Amino acid sequence: MSTKKISLGLFGFGCVGQGLYDVLNMSQGLEATIEKICVRDKSKKRRLDNDRFTFDKDDILKRKDIDVVVELISDTTAAFEIVSTAMKNGVNVVSASKEMLAKNFAELFKLQQENNVSLIYEGSVGGSIPIIRNLEEYYDNELLQSVRAILNGTCNYILTRMELEGKDYGDILKDAQESGFAETDPWLDVSGCDAKYKILLIGVHAFGLLLKPEQILNLGIQNIRYEDILYAKEKGLRIKLLTRAEKIGDKYRIYVMPHFIDKSSELYNVMYEYNAVEVEGAFSCKQLFTGKGAGSHPTGSAVLSDISALTYNYHYGYKKLKKFQANNAGSDPAKLLDNSFNTKVYVRFSNKKEIEKLEIISIEEEYKSAKNNYIIATVNFKSLFHFCDNKDSKVFICEV
Ligand code: HSE
Repeated sequence: MSTKKISLGLFGFGCVGQGLYDVLNMSQGLEATIEKICVRDKSKKRRLDNDRFTFDKDDILKRKDIDVVVELISDTTAAFEIVSTAMKNGVNVVSASKEMLAKNFAELFKLQQENNVSLIYEGSVGGSIPIIRNLEEYYDNELLQSVRAILNGTCNYILTRMELEGKDYGDILKDAQESGFAETDPWLDVSGCDAKYKILLIGVHAFGLLLKPEQILNLGIQNIRYEDILYAKEKGLRIKLLTRAEKIGDKYRIYVMPHFIDKSSELYNVMYEYNAVEVEGAFSCKQLFTGKGAGSHPTGSAVLSDISALTYNYHYGYKKLKKFQANNAGSDPAKLLDNSFNTKVYVRFSNKKEIEKLEIISIEEEYKSAKNNYIIATVNFKSLFHFCDNKDSKVFICEV
């Protein structure tokens, strides 16, 4: 293994950027220097001297002595421009921008092959949990059957504190923002979008399946109330925002939805900003990876590991994706998604009109009161797409 001194150009000095700065300073063994940090806001007071910063992306992108561009910004369009320009210039990139990666994956995959460069992004999924490289390398020949995960630290933090402290959703979301867990736009967290971008990346490395974000259902916790948590608690259950990718026969079920979890599941005890990924393979059976899924130093540590991997010329092999594409040339991977099944859900709503688009097959339990109603019902999964990313809906849906 050959290692070398590495020069970094860093984009972004927010929560993760500062985390990376700290862990780089504290870590021993990796010879890496941040040559310049490109930031957007000229008025912001920062903890480092002004000469460490630039507001012009070309001060990094046009430098010949930068070995690796590290992209840690929240503006998806700007992030894509930075990452694609760096790759076209033949520079390796580390990114933690899951939305940018998920929305532009096909193009970014192509750019890696065309320019013979590496783009790695362990920090984009599960914070400190090393999952992407494991799915790609360790499980390269395992017959993976499912990945069930808690992949949004903000939601898990909110759900934990709602249950333990009986506090309101809004107060806790503010704390999550102050702690640096939440996205700049917290809708991405609470609506399940962030978890959806992450499961899309997992789909590529676990199954070789490259989907588009709009093909994956995401239902979030934005409409949850303490009474939903209480309903679960009374039955010995917890609500978790579950992200799943499962192989069922020749098809895949991939989606994000709150889920009642019972004590027998290891995911039951995953609390606060912790994430967990439960991988199930035909040979390895169930394995659980868990760790802090959000926050400055945990995510910074994943970025550090990616930078370190580039010192020995690491790149994702994309073995499963390449195999999938060779075997299914020209065919849309979304054809392999199974959205035609029925599933049992808890649905809390104010009036029947709010759920008229839900295709109910049968009702097992029903509760009515002046303020609220809920049902436990078997519904057509496809009809849940009506509630996906729907800012007008106040209905809370949770898989049973
Ligand atoms: N907002 C994200 C979360 C950050 O809460 O999980 C880590 O990707």
